[in-house]
Amino acid sequence: MVKTDILVVGAGIAGLTFALKTAHRRPDLKITVLTKTNREESNTRYAQGGVAAVWDFETDSYKKHIEDTLDAGDGLCDEDIVEIVVKEGPERVKEIIEWGTRFDKHGAEYDLGKEGGHSENRILHYKDYTGWEILRAMLEKAKTMPNIEIHDHFFAVDLISQHHLGHVVTRLNTNIECYGAYVLDLATNHIDTILAKITVVATGGAGQVYRSTTNPVIATGDGIAMAYRMKGRLENMEFVQFHPTSLFNPAGENPAFLVSEAVRGFGAILKSKENEEFMHLYDERKSLAPRDIVARAIDNEMKKRGDEHMCLDCSHLDKEKFIAHFPTIYEKCMSLGIDPMKDLIPVVPAAHYVCGGIKTDEIGRTSVKNMYACGECTSSGLHGANRLASNSLLEAMVFAHRIFEEVVERVDNIEIKAGIPQWNAESTSDPKEMVLITQSMKELKEIMSNYVGIVRSNVRLKRAADRLLLLYNETERLYATTTLSPQLMELRNLITIGYLITTSAQMRRESRGLHYTTDYPEKLGFAETVLR
Ligand code: FAD
Ligand code: SIN
Repeated sequence: MVKTDILVVGAGIAGLTFALKTAHRRPDLKITVLTKTNREESNTRYAQGGVAAVWDFETDSYKKHIEDTLDAGDGLCDEDIVEIVVKEGPERVKEIIEWGTRFDKHGAEYDLGKEGGHSENRILHYKDYTGWEILRAMLEKAKTMPNIEIHDHFFAVDLISQHHLGHVVTRLNTNIECYGAYVLDLATNHIDTILAKITVVATGGAGQVYRSTTNPVIATGDGIAMAYRMKGRLENMEFVQFHPTSLFNPAGENPAFLVSEAVRGFGAILKSKENEEFMHLYDERKSLAPRDIVARAIDNEMKKRGDEHMCLDCSHLDKEKFIAHFPTIYEKCMSLGIDPMKDLIPVVPAAHYVCGGIKTDEIGRTSVKNMYACGECTSSGLHGANRLASNSLLEAMVFAHRIFEEVVERVDNIEIKAGIPQWNAESTSDPKEMVLITQSMKELKEIMSNYVGIVRSNVRLKRAADRLLLLYNETERLYATTTLSPQLMELRNLITIGYLITTSAQMRRESRGLHYTTDYPEKLGFAETVLR
């Protein structure tokens, strides 16, 4: 039994921003941060394009960033939340610069990039590995904070609530409380009980529910699934963002390598293998239209032409500047025998970002008492039906800050809960056939990619739901009898994520933003899909 003032599940930009600020203001508090593998591995680490923030007030304005966000979100953004994030964003970016994060400059001025859906250049970036740079600076800073303990290879299994005290908890309960988490320590294979006054869930995304994704293998939606199991409120899970341009690799690669949207912001043009432009057929902003539109256009062109990929043409761009801005992308292409300055880069859409998740309010509070959430695992109201490029790093920092401000005031009034039982692993034994888990994982990804992808229909969603139910039942039987392993927990969590996406998609009888169904191709004015 471990006791801590604050438990932070996740050490990406969301978890670390919160932990650093809280540790600085309250050196008397013990802050325990968990990662499921190691602290260097997260979606944050792979962020390429950068952080969107209004920086140059001569050309840009909050009004323009707000309008671009609302336009991308296709009618489902919470306007108050959009205003909060856009207006507080620049201050948060200044703070991480003070913490040592570098962003590229032209002389004394920051080099502001552009991405799809943005009407102005407003993306601060560090070459094409902005996320790595932010994480580097934050982890360096964390080393100087004695009251932050980061535990690597500590896999959160379940968030603890009244349910674990033997009480019946249903989705109608409005008084659910969080007392911490059961956590598998992968070094000892023991399940620890970590009790906390406050728990902050910052577990990131769930791209691994699809066959092809830009997300690293850790992105298995654990926080969202745990919140669902504890009967917390979730919403908008049908809005899965497919990034239009992951690098097409016939050998298959997990994760799929991303070719940043900033490359299109830099002037690259989407074309067919025959060197024909096609985006003008779909949107007047052509290659720089918002992601939902571009990904659907590519998907449609691939189906129409029977091609396995579309292409990005960079051949007209300045070689020296391209390499300086996109060194990782250049090297990756060259390693596969593609010279971006001469050859068309083959690209396909890949699952990239879950817009829905744990419902949070303007402070980052969830429906569960003493539990907050920030970052990609949340549905804060910022993204609506489709996230504007480079808005997620910003969102994570803004809500981590807001949670920090509330928590440092509240934490002293909360007691650690007594009487929480240890994890019960009785009647379970080591898995005899790991193949059952790996095969189910493959099946899950096939189901989601084939039936719940960019274009959906009633028949496809029904087929997905039926097959997911079989997988769910098989996996629950396995879970009840098998010693816990990360593979089993990730499978279980991803089946939940698949179920949530599919069910929400079935509930939304219209097409909007990232959810497109051939049975209801029109926009109808539906509100959030709340999962109770
Ligand atoms: P993450 O950074 O994913 O961190 C999650 C943390 O939770 C990890 O430390 C993990 O170990 C931990 N964790 C998860 N489950 C458990 C568990 N069960 N137990 C213990 N710990 C757990 N957004 C932008 O705004 N701009 C960009 O340029 C950009 N580019 C991107 C490029 C790529 C290739 C990808 C994949 C995403 C990109 N995004 C971008 C999205 C953005 O990177 C993410 O949304 C954001 O980094 C998420 O941060 P986070 O802190 O919420 O989660
Ligand atoms: C990219 O660099 O294209 C990713 C940006 C994002 O996901 O916001």
